[in-house]
Amino acid sequence: MSIVNAKEIMFPALENGYAIGAFNVTDLLQFEAVIDAAVEKKAPVIVQTSVKPSQFHTPELMVAIFKTLASSAPIPVCLHLDHCTTIEYCNTCADAGYTNIMIDASKHSFEENIRQTKAVVDYAHSVGNISVEGELGTVGGVEDQIKVAEDEAQLANPEKCVEFVERTGVDIFGPAIGTAHGVYKTKNPKVDFERMATINKMLNGNGIKCPLVVHGGTGLPDDYIVKLLEAGGAKFNVSTELKHTLIDAKFEYLSSHRDEYDPGKLDVFARDATRKAVMHWIDKLGSAGKA
Ligand code: 13P
Repeated sequence: MSIVNAKEIMFPALENGYAIGAFNVTDLLQFEAVIDAAVEKKAPVIVQTSVKPSQFHTPELMVAIFKTLASSAPIPVCLHLDHCTTIEYCNTCADAGYTNIMIDASKHSFEENIRQTKAVVDYAHSVGNISVEGELGTVGGVEDQIKVAEDEAQLANPEKCVEFVERTGVDIFGPAIGTAHGVYKTKNPKVDFERMATINKMLNGNGIKCPLVVHGGTGLPDDYIVKLLEAGGAKFNVSTELKHTLIDAKFEYLSSHRDEYDPGKLDVFARDATRKAVMHWIDKLGSAGKA
């Protein structure tokens, strides 16, 4: 149906208490699986690429796949660049046709984070209908080229979040609230739901200005997801789970079909496993039927 930016599908999500699933993909098979799942569930969806897979395949190829799959899908689809740490590559992907760009300058000082984020916002908005995501505080764990040790992760200060959003003009915003990239080391990770709700209230209390993103979706307990939806999470990022699903499905298939040399059958099996994992997330986020 439509190629959209992230902001336009997150507004109705926040207004109506559900969230958009944002799924990191590394190849065509995962790309198809995410869109197939969203079509089956009639859900708006965000497909994300981290910087390394985007550079490996080239942004032009990622955008060509996106446009081909999204234009024939009867749902809104956004293509997001995840955790990009350079203004140059953010701009390259905006030029190529990504519809949401995340500049992650969170490791820098507050002022430098604002400077870099604003530069990307100004450029993306001048290029077209592209929304921009910024981050404040630091999310622990490993995502693509970014590694943050647990004891170095810093939660976002609510007043600073408001100042950051106002001064940068970001369209959507990921505050660090204790969620982490990768697999959680404990069953009850320390997540600051109240901080998330406070930030959401301060930013979106009087009409929606800047919907919030939850990073580190993999392994979040179901009751945490419910609380984060209540606190205003309007986009949930899921990456590690899909990587595990892909590799595990391929391993399982190859282990039981060791003498078969038919890559198509392997792909169908792995794509199906990924599609099911994404559909499960869409159900948990409440976005089924919202397209
Ligand atoms: P996970 O790898 O923990 O699912 O986190 C994904 C993420 O937040 C990508 O930005």
